[in-house]
Amino acid sequence: MRTLLIVTLLAAAGAVRAGELESLTAETRAEVAQILPRVSGMMKSAVEAEGVAAAIPVCKDKAPQLMAEKADALGWKIRRVSLKTRNPERATPDAWEAERLAAFDARAAAGEAPASLEVAEIVSDGEGRRVFRYMKALPVAPVCVQCHGEQANMAPELVQALARDYPHDAATGYAPGQIRGAVTVQRPL
Ligand code: HEC
Repeated sequence: MRTLLIVTLLAAAGAVRAGELESLTAETRAEVAQILPRVSGMMKSAVEAEGVAAAIPVCKDKAPQLMAEKADALGWKIRRVSLKTRNPERATPDAWEAERLAAFDARAAAGEAPASLEVAEIVSDGEGRRVFRYMKALPVAPVCVQCHGEQANMAPELVQALARDYPHDAATGYAPGQIRGAVTVQRPL
């Protein structure tokens, strides 16, 4: 009898956790979905209006700024990460993120649509606090290869401008459909 009660209680606790993960994921997905189309939209119109080199500030300043504003408003951490960074100071993944970025690449290679790749987990921060972590893949669209594609296909002024600001740039050589990186979110629970 007592065993049955314990099993039932554990099952109930498990169900609460499962529901919690789902609602945290849905909420986070909705917030992230408000940022990403704005960045791609600004990128497209900036490239069309002013040319590729003049659009650098969109990926350099605007995207991080929109994420920082959202993060401040919500009390979360939001940033971009990549396994091949242009700006290693801002975008170097931690161990959890690096593992999931590699898994995204493997999942895309196995046929999953890059735009649908996401992961959500509740983890411990090492000091006993629970943290909700979420990552969504950022696929390479045709507009992205103008600055993240083969260097041989880029205008020399652009290559120079990027080299000046990013001496350790590893974020070139991408083709549409690959995964450039991810948006990563941390929410203390
Ligand atoms: C006009 C040039 C340009 C275009 C077009 C561009 N980017 Fe970037 N991208 C940059 C620059 C410059 C940085 C460095 C940002 C920084 O200093 O934090 C960057 C950084 C990033 C990062 C952060 C990780 C890193 O490598 O530092 C991601 C993710 C990213 N870009 C994705 C994209 C995606 C996806 C697209 C297409 C929708 C795109 N970029 C289009 C110039 C560009």
